[in-house]
Amino acid sequence: MTDISFIHDEQRARSGVIAAFMAEESALPAQLAALDEALDGRVSRAIAAADFKGKSGQSLDIPGLDGIDRVFVVGAGKAADLDAPGAEKLGGRMAAALMRARIDQAVVLAAPPDGAPLKAADFAARLASGLYLRNYVFDKYKSDDKKKGAPKAFAAAALLVDAAPAAGAAEKRFTPLRAVADAAHMARDLVNEPSNVLTPKTFAKRLRKLAKMGLKVEVLKPRALKKIGMRALLAVGQGSANRPRVVVLRYQGGDKDAAPVAFVGKGVTFDSGGISIKPSQSMDEMKGDMGGAAAVAGIMRALAARRAKVNAVGVIGLVENMPDGKAQRPGDVVRSLSGQTIAVLNTDAEGRLVLADCLTYAQRQFKPKWLVNLATLTGAIMVALGKEYAGLFANDDALAEDLNAAGAATGEKVWRMPLGAAYDKQIDHEVADMKNIGERWGGSITPAQFLKRFIENGTPWAHLDIAGTAMAAEKSDLNDSWGSGFGVRLLDELVRRREKA
Ligand code: BES
Ligand code: MN
Ligand code: ZN
Repeated sequence: MTDISFIHDEQRARSGVIAAFMAEESALPAQLAALDEALDGRVSRAIAAADFKGKSGQSLDIPGLDGIDRVFVVGAGKAADLDAPGAEKLGGRMAAALMRARIDQAVVLAAPPDGAPLKAADFAARLASGLYLRNYVFDKYKSDDKKKGAPKAFAAAALLVDAAPAAGAAEKRFTPLRAVADAAHMARDLVNEPSNVLTPKTFAKRLRKLAKMGLKVEVLKPRALKKIGMRALLAVGQGSANRPRVVVLRYQGGDKDAAPVAFVGKGVTFDSGGISIKPSQSMDEMKGDMGGAAAVAGIMRALAARRAKVNAVGVIGLVENMPDGKAQRPGDVVRSLSGQTIAVLNTDAEGRLVLADCLTYAQRQFKPKWLVNLATLTGAIMVALGKEYAGLFANDDALAEDLNAAGAATGEKVWRMPLGAAYDKQIDHEVADMKNIGERWGGSITPAQFLKRFIENGTPWAHLDIAGTAMAAEKSDLNDSWGSGFGVRLLDELVRRREKA
């Protein structure tokens, strides 16, 4: 784990590796100007020679002298844009520069530039958060000689602020951000892990370890699932030698009797499509079909680690979808835990079956005051929104608005999609109460309608389709990994806004 510290001794920025930034169309920030003076103008000359303007995306690597190994200067863009998300992204780009150069430790000049909207402590804490989030590589399966030359995570960064009080305040603000970042890294680890290693059973085993962070962990095995009546979920898993699990995570940080908030995650550890088998092209990517489960595990860990004043429950459905002599067939009818029957016309539309039973269980068992489910549910959401926004479906405008605001604040953006009777009608079935697929058009909406049929007593509910954002993720300032950990920071921010926790 990365050692992040906040310091105020300027002398520490006169040796080793220094990471600095410069905002667009402005003079050197004071800390960098002082360093430049100590280096006889070497920094400013290098900046002029390289035509470095401080634009976002620009960076300079200046070899040092007088005990300084080198100075990285990263473009900060406009100072006015360095609000919380802006400062985090800048931290991410600084981390990327250090990682590319395989630096072990660095001193980061972390005082806000003139015109930045954040106070010193907030700016330094957000910069640290970005450095920390970006400082992740999933290289556990690479032999040492194959890691040579590849970006490497740094071990330590000391952020230089201007005064002792700011260092203390920054440290205090960074502590919960670090808890959330660790949780996002855990979610990335889970998504990146291949399906021969991460099965429902080994996933559950990893989640058991969260008990030491203050979560109550309950693992429901197939016999218990049968007894409860989660037949839709079990049907998805019946073709796999890796038997299903449902994991319930509970956190009590609020009043003893207060209703919890609930999170439900799709955890298909591998989605072959089942008997409605997928084409082999890119089927390997379906190791990431548990991104929703990873996000739910992450948010629960984050809430516990930062001791949020809220009660929360996470219900995670872990299943492998495989074709086999025992697998469910297209046309099978199953009775879900809710009592509603489902005709399984396509075994590749399995996520909604898993979620249906988990949604029913979460509501009946815990009576949540609101509920968010996350799932890599449809390819269609990528057709609609690309990989920049997750799809948001909700039966509650206030919840949708809060998610939207949380998305803007964290950069984990969501875009609301419609629900309506005309879409709902598409999943009616002749024999069963519903079928698990609709028409081709609106392919991300009919599954949302399907899930909505499992929401009881008007529970405020939102469904996030994270197929485009959780796995095979676009590279960003804060994440360079295939698994993004999408949803952890978004939900943490949502809980902060809704529960003042
Ligand atoms: N897990 C997939 C959705 C998915 C596709 C996630 C690509 C990430 C990347 C889901 O279970 C699925 O197979 N959906 C089908 C639904 C269809 C059979 C109605 C799809 O999107 O094609
Ligand atoms: Mn599928
Ligand atoms: Zn799937």
